[in-house]
Amino acid sequence: MTVAATFARRAGFRWVACASTGNTSASMAAYAARGAMRGLVLVPEGKISWSKLSQAIDYGAVTCQLRTDFDGCLRLLQQLVLEAPVYQLNSINPFRLEGQKTLAFELLEQLDWREPDHIIVPGGNLGNSSAIGKALVEMRELGLISRLPRLSVVQAEGANALVRTLREAGGKRLVTVSAETRATAIRIGNPASWKKAVRVLEATGGACEQVSEIEIAQAKAEIGAEGIGCEPASAVTLAGLKKLLKQGFVKPEETVVLVLTGNVLKDPDFTIDFHRGDMFEPGTENAALSALRHPPIVLDATLDAVTRTLEQAEKSGS
Ligand SMILES: Cc1ncc(COP(=O)(O)O)c(C=O)c1O
Repeated sequence: MTVAATFARRAGFRWVACASTGNTSASMAAYAARGAMRGLVLVPEGKISWSKLSQAIDYGAVTCQLRTDFDGCLRLLQQLVLEAPVYQLNSINPFRLEGQKTLAFELLEQLDWREPDHIIVPGGNLGNSSAIGKALVEMRELGLISRLPRLSVVQAEGANALVRTLREAGGKRLVTVSAETRATAIRIGNPASWKKAVRVLEATGGACEQVSEIEIAQAKAEIGAEGIGCEPASAVTLAGLKKLLKQGFVKPEETVVLVLTGNVLKDPDFTIDFHRGDMFEPGTENAALSALRHPPIVLDATLDAVTRTLEQAEKSGS
């Protein structure tokens, strides 16, 4: 976002704008404010978390909650930029993708320039996968790495446009979907960068997989249980890795990097709903999933009540 916002400022734009599932709008609003520009944010009404929306508002962006989904917001913005002097900062902006390559550079730097066998990312609008793939190819051309890690993309079953594009159309035309998932950051049915993502998958030999809502919730809770907080969209990577391991696409001895794209605090409702057991219909949860739940416990403020709770937790191992 810093790269594209810097370009907007240098080009003399007073207004920058984005359609967003929440994270893009938060960062755009922040950099617009620091760059003394106005920000216009279009988000789907009721479909993004308050923790994301509150950032855009706090940073002074004009924040419009549109009665549509993300794809509807993006369509509208693309019409708007043709008529108004507003600079679009979605990831279809080439400077955004150039900036997002930083993730891949830092990743390799942190691994002392030893390539992992696989990198796995969540797939929504497919900007991340396109940018990381471009960076990998460029790093190999520059001789910074000698072989390409496989870059794989994981989507939610309910927002699986790239999966269907590859399976039903051989990657030749986009199969759009009406997106539905609680992993709101990847709730996108008409991904802008699908052609670039297909090219990246072909260039690196990566896979494209989809995971269910239960698999996402389970993976997120497992990551949380390691002391690492991620938002649901990020947890698709672990859920996808489990599938790719089962399929033999990833071998147990191989090195894999899962890119954690969003922090747990960006979607606290998901975490609370999951642990309280409010997320899935009764009877649909499996035992492994139920065992991961740790709902908050309301007690009388007595030593006895807390001691008994401690003993029960020790007995049940939870
Ligand atoms: C937390 C998080 N994860 C994953 C994604 C998906 O990235 P992309 O839209 O570039 O595929 C986003 C996009 O906004 C996101 O905010």
